[in-house]
Amino acid sequence: MNEAGAAIAASVARRARTADPCSFVIFGASGDLTQRLLIPALYNLAVDGLLPDAFCIIGVARTPRSHEGFRADLEKGLRAFAKRDIDDAVAAKLFACVCYFQGEAEDPKTYERLRQELERLEQARGTKGNRLFYLATPPVAFAPISIRLAQSGLARESNGAWRRIIIEKPFGTDLASARTLNHQLLEVLDEHQIYRIDHYLGKETVQNILVLRFANGLFEPIWNRDHIDHVQITVTEALTVEHRGKFYDSTGALRDMVPNHLFQLLSLVAMEPPARFEANAVRAGKAELLDATQVENEAEALRNGVRAQYTAGSIANRAVSDYRKAQDVRPDSTTETYVALKLMIDNWRWAGVPFYLRTGKALRAQNTEVAIKFKQAPFAMFRATPIDRLAQNFLILGIQPDECISLQFNAKVPGPTITLSGVGMTFKYEDYFQVAPSTGYETLIYDCMIGDAILFQRADGIEAGWSVVQPFIDAWRHAGAQGLATYPAGSEGPKEADELLARDGRRWRPIG
Ligand SMILES: NC(=O)c1ccc[n+]([C@@H]2O[C@H](COP(=O)([O-])OP(=O)(O)OC[C@H]3O[C@@H](n4cnc5c(N)ncnc54)[C@H](OP(=O)(O)O)[C@@H]3O)[C@@H](O)[C@H]2O)c1
Repeated sequence: MNEAGAAIAASVARRARTADPCSFVIFGASGDLTQRLLIPALYNLAVDGLLPDAFCIIGVARTPRSHEGFRADLEKGLRAFAKRDIDDAVAAKLFACVCYFQGEAEDPKTYERLRQELERLEQARGTKGNRLFYLATPPVAFAPISIRLAQSGLARESNGAWRRIIIEKPFGTDLASARTLNHQLLEVLDEHQIYRIDHYLGKETVQNILVLRFANGLFEPIWNRDHIDHVQITVTEALTVEHRGKFYDSTGALRDMVPNHLFQLLSLVAMEPPARFEANAVRAGKAELLDATQVENEAEALRNGVRAQYTAGSIANRAVSDYRKAQDVRPDSTTETYVALKLMIDNWRWAGVPFYLRTGKALRAQNTEVAIKFKQAPFAMFRATPIDRLAQNFLILGIQPDECISLQFNAKVPGPTITLSGVGMTFKYEDYFQVAPSTGYETLIYDCMIGDAILFQRADGIEAGWSVVQPFIDAWRHAGAQGLATYPAGSEGPKEADELLARDGRRWRPIG
């Protein structure tokens, strides 16, 4: 780690202000998300001195249990899932402000009792009436809980106290359901109270895409169709569907990954510079970009989309069986575990520049990166080196597992003749900054507690994303098993995905 980098990071951390006093109410508090990610994230915020003293956590769920039993489970989860050493004093202080509240989400009496509990705790802890409601329930409960919170007055803002609601993903399963959910929420809440979360935006390297583009004079002048040949966005996993067959088989790779994670990367890489680094300006820019990324109809979706399922293979010397044989997966399932899309953006900056996106499970390696391919030099001056031996100029924004920015270019091989070779220049986060292990939720929870919505999605952005994928959803539903490709587990993906790029005279970068 670089000493200057460490000093800068420490000084930035010191300057961050403590979040506002508030009550943190988690619906679905007995679930996996709370135990594995939310509580460890709150603990990390506490360690970093970012949680206010005037704070309490109320866990709401339907199953009856005691405060002590709930705290003990959360603490067990923290010790199992925390990626940092646990400071017992900080953990004890955090769990001292946790309580459990049993209630049916659909029952109005739940909210009346919750009001009494909240008012009691607000008095006792001095939280100034600020309330953050985190909906960590299955998506079917997002609208009913929000509506009850609003109708009961628990989410009404008054006397300077804020009331905010974090909605987990998935936000809808297609364009129509996302529109319905937005409509239901916006009927009872103001847009500024709704924080639609996508934990991808909690990753430092994802946020850094904006900084790289807009805080450096170097890149923006070449960030357009004149200099960029195409862009590849890759989010691959080596994991199979594992025990999540029930959820995954009704969802698939497209819905699970594309309108949220891949489109976050796409919009950050391709959006126009916002006038201000402020929530509405940034979110408008992202929504506008997705608006310009339209797929005309199902025929175009079939031409520019590949979907595939993994078959038996091996990953890191471990035998993997067919997706269709996985637990809770239908034996005749046509759910895709891999998608590759070619998208065009209809604006002046990107006219004619394809964006290729791919994501899938059970692939050779885990890899999340954005690779920007620059055009070749216009004239082949170095005739001794055939053009196909020249390195391609890629700028790679690595997100997982390597957090880095890397530039690939040609250099002269030392010696008496002019011979070229591809070389790389790489900036690795860990070499510069000491990055404390995190869950990815810390920044997002903290931002919500200080009222900064930049990293959350707005209604228009969510709907713009779904409207891009809707033609693919429709086309593939109508096609059924026809056109569904396969790939062996542990491979780079289906050959049809290679053909998608080969058609344009291009090829994917190797995964990982
Ligand atoms: N786990 C993750 O890594 C992860 C990552 C990203 C997003 N998410 C999203 O986060 C949410 C929670 O995920 P999870 O993995 O924690 O799920 P989970 O383990 O199944 O827990 C769900 C929680 O919601 C409660 N619940 C179930 N049905 C309910 C209903 N109809 N009304 C109200 N409460 C209900 C359950 O407790 P009771 O039965 O006691 O009420 C439980 O506490 C989901 O929307 C998921 O998509 C999860």
